[in-house]
Amino acid sequence: MKVTTQVIRKLKGVRPIVGLTAYDSIMARILDRAGIDFILIGDTVGISFLGFQSTVPVTVDMILHHSKAVMRAKPNALVVADLPFPEAHRSMDHLLESCRRLMQEAEVEAVKLEGGENIAAKVSQLVEAGIPTIGHIGMLPQRKHQLGNYYKVGKIPKSRNQLLIDAQSLEKAGAFAIIGENIESGLCKDIKETIKIPLIGIGSGPHCDGQILVSTDLFGLTPGEIPPFIKPYINLTDITMKTVSKWIDDVKQKKYP
Ligand code: KIV
Repeated sequence: MKVTTQVIRKLKGVRPIVGLTAYDSIMARILDRAGIDFILIGDTVGISFLGFQSTVPVTVDMILHHSKAVMRAKPNALVVADLPFPEAHRSMDHLLESCRRLMQEAEVEAVKLEGGENIAAKVSQLVEAGIPTIGHIGMLPQRKHQLGNYYKVGKIPKSRNQLLIDAQSLEKAGAFAIIGENIESGLCKDIKETIKIPLIGIGSGPHCDGQILVSTDLFGLTPGEIPPFIKPYINLTDITMKTVSKWIDDVKQKKYP
């Protein structure tokens, strides 16, 4: 059954919602077959696949390219595209045009923006235009150059009250879910109980309505440092390297073909 934004909303309080990032058709197909609820074409594509040191250099054109690839897998999961730096803070016309491209040219079904109370007015206008939107509060990777190394921030320096206001503002603006990144676990419990839409955590403990991860972190494929809250379930880098080495040896020793 196709997962819609309504399905995601209704899962709150029923069972934990599960999301992962995907950036191409192969991964989207695998995640979808495994039963993921939603796929995010995150701006983490910049770090995971494109060799950048942060998400900041990622553009709408890049997200569009990867979103088209994900959509070719025809997932049952809801597909959400990330608005990269600094889309949420550009003019409303520009933001609408970026969302239009993602929804009309790639046919994604929702978008995600980093920000809380400060972007709520824009979220409200997107929702008014028929663009389902997920907010993203807590540690905001697009602010890497303001925050320093975002994986080392640990607990959010923002006040507890501001995060509650951020979540409530996004809900009032019509967001259908909120991603909470690297937020203190106890505070997530309070936020979750304050809002009626799902709070989906990443590095924010067990009290959220669901969890999302960057898929390359889960698979042990992320180049370089990974966030401390990640428990890799498999090391595909090692497995792939061993496979390639074996094939190289076999060819050199004339065992293959
Ligand atoms: O871009 C991304 O992958 C994200 C996740 C960290 C949720 O925003």
